[in-house]
Amino acid sequence: MVTAAGCWRAFSKSNKSQLNCCSTSGARQCCPPLVGAAFSAHDMHVTLILPIALAISLSACSDQVEDTRPGQPVKMRQTAFKEMLRVFEPMGTMLRDGKYNAGKFEALATDLISKRNGPWGHFAPDTNYPPTKARPEVWTNKAQFDQAQGAFFGSTDALLTAARAKDLKRVTDAYSTVYDHCQSCHREFKKK
Ligand code: HEC
Repeated sequence: MVTAAGCWRAFSKSNKSQLNCCSTSGARQCCPPLVGAAFSAHDMHVTLILPIALAISLSACSDQVEDTRPGQPVKMRQTAFKEMLRVFEPMGTMLRDGKYNAGKFEALATDLISKRNGPWGHFAPDTNYPPTKARPEVWTNKAQFDQAQGAFFGSTDALLTAARAKDLKRVTDAYSTVYDHCQSCHREFKKK
């Protein structure tokens, strides 16, 4: 069944579920329907709920295109981003569910600092090819990309400082600032 231009529904035997598939520039991508992942602008104050949507759209999708280049730079950076998400997401869950544990949160914030360096070295100039989700602006507007990365680093420093102070209000604010930096860079530099 055709759902939108270039998109169709498929049934995944391995997941035993309906998938939405779309074909973009020759690459086929299938994702489960994003149930509950649509948020309108006026929901923005519920910032802490959003990472779930990020997690769903990222971990459950299956790319059909393999990174066949030596060293697999695209796959390397995507894996590094996913590792960041794996540390970042539980922090959001903790805050959202009202289960803030200062010790655990600080450990996760420390872990995020250790993971945050992962992706950037894999964005060499000639690595804009499928299955990348990066937009060409990563390379054509490199100064701004580097700036977005720097701002993200600053926000994760602030998150660790807040986590060490074990102050829930500060932690919550700092977490949502980091989240905003993930999102704003994705808006500019990552395909949907
Ligand atoms: C400075 C820019 C920037 C920042 C900051 C940033 N990202 Fe990304 N992210 C990207 C780009 C560009 C890609 C696409 C990489 C590719 O496919 O080649 C991406 C991809 C991803 C992916 C997808 C990996 C995949 O295989 O689909 C995840 C997950 C992700 N980012 C999570 C995060 C999280 C979580 C944060 C914040 C804690 C974050 N990112 C911060 C630029 C950024």
